[in-house]
Amino acid sequence: MSITANRVSAVAAGFDAARLSKDFPALNQLVHGKPLVYLDNAATSQKPRSVIDAITRFYEEDCSNIHRGVHLLSERATEAYEEVRLAVQQFIHAASPAEVIFVRGATEAINLVAQSYGRMHVQAGDAVLISAMEHHSNIVPWQILCEEKGAKLHVIPMNDRGELLLEEYEKLLTPETKLVAVAHVSNALGTINPVRQIIRMAHEHGIPVLVDGAQAVPHLQVDVQDLDCDFYAFSGHKMYGPTGIGILYGKQRLLEAMPPYQGGGDMISSVTFEKTTYNSLPHKFEAGTPDISGVIGLGAAIEYLTRIGLDNVAAHEHDLLAYATERISLLPGVRVIGTAQKKAAVLSFVLDGIHPHDIGTILDQEGIAVRTGHHCAQPVMQFFGIPATTRASFALYNTEAEVDALMRGITKVQEMFA
Ligand SMILES: Cc1ncc(COP(=O)(O)O)c(C=O)c1O
Repeated sequence: MSITANRVSAVAAGFDAARLSKDFPALNQLVHGKPLVYLDNAATSQKPRSVIDAITRFYEEDCSNIHRGVHLLSERATEAYEEVRLAVQQFIHAASPAEVIFVRGATEAINLVAQSYGRMHVQAGDAVLISAMEHHSNIVPWQILCEEKGAKLHVIPMNDRGELLLEEYEKLLTPETKLVAVAHVSNALGTINPVRQIIRMAHEHGIPVLVDGAQAVPHLQVDVQDLDCDFYAFSGHKMYGPTGIGILYGKQRLLEAMPPYQGGGDMISSVTFEKTTYNSLPHKFEAGTPDISGVIGLGAAIEYLTRIGLDNVAAHEHDLLAYATERISLLPGVRVIGTAQKKAAVLSFVLDGIHPHDIGTILDQEGIAVRTGHHCAQPVMQFFGIPATTRASFALYNTEAEVDALMRGITKVQEMFA
């Protein structure tokens, strides 16, 4: 029922994914002689022409290091870089640009918090609480921290639809728990976690929360002040921006009190051999020459997404996921992994008796790019008792015709293995 209603809403808004796909040069190619159907967006999305052009323009016209120069190119580069910080602030509704730290991606953002906030606040006997559906990048940094400190890693369990069990979560909010770190959207299952509620519950116990938003920012409006999260981590390359750039959002009060993660140029205000004083936020956490062109490309991606409107994107992807879920349920021998009530843009599945690697290889011959494997979420695979899944993940440029192509591809795989 909601499938039809939402389809109408996206169409009514004039959303035309096929037309938007023309903005993305890499989508306009043949793979093994077939038109590319790119359904690996949770791994990385394609980049619109405006992002590619912004990066090229930087190197052709403004290429210079930032913050240190008085010459014109350096001033232009610095201005462009800092303007993107303001754009990110607006994009995620942060209270101040000082709360927006440029990092390499979600992985580095989480490691920064683990190594800076975590080392300061987590001691022997304490616990860090994550969930059963985390990406390895929101597991391993905490394991490293816990091992170093003699602390424990606790895990919020989930049900077999891939939904977190909040009553179990409540029990894990103990005085030992010093931080909760949880995905906003699961990359392996597509589950949208109730992070607002998760944060509220943690805060009732005085526990701060880091949200891994890597799979949320391309699909949902994120308002860090409304969520009241303490940290929010995401990557540019999954939201139509370049690789190598990402964001750590942190509440200013927390970031101010945290020690630097890395030392080097730009993160200091003065250095002598006896003592260094650190730069103010956000520069304290941006040691060395940053990925200037990456930041500028990210700015263009934010502009592109904002112009289309995340609400429109979300409605379109919701329609597409509903359509794909409906279509795949009509095929025999398919099990969808991740059937939560609230999902975003991910369709993970297994086919009876056929290894996902074979599925991915055959689909590739049809020009269809999907991801197969454990999706850097091995505990999720262990939970479902499977080695791997095939994952189709959607973006704003995907169409129902591409979902149809995927279904034809799956049928072909099944026929080949019959
Ligand atoms: C949920 C989630 N968190 C974190 C990451 C890590 O992102 P990156 O590799 O861009 O640092 C990913 C990447 O797939 C992810 O899906």
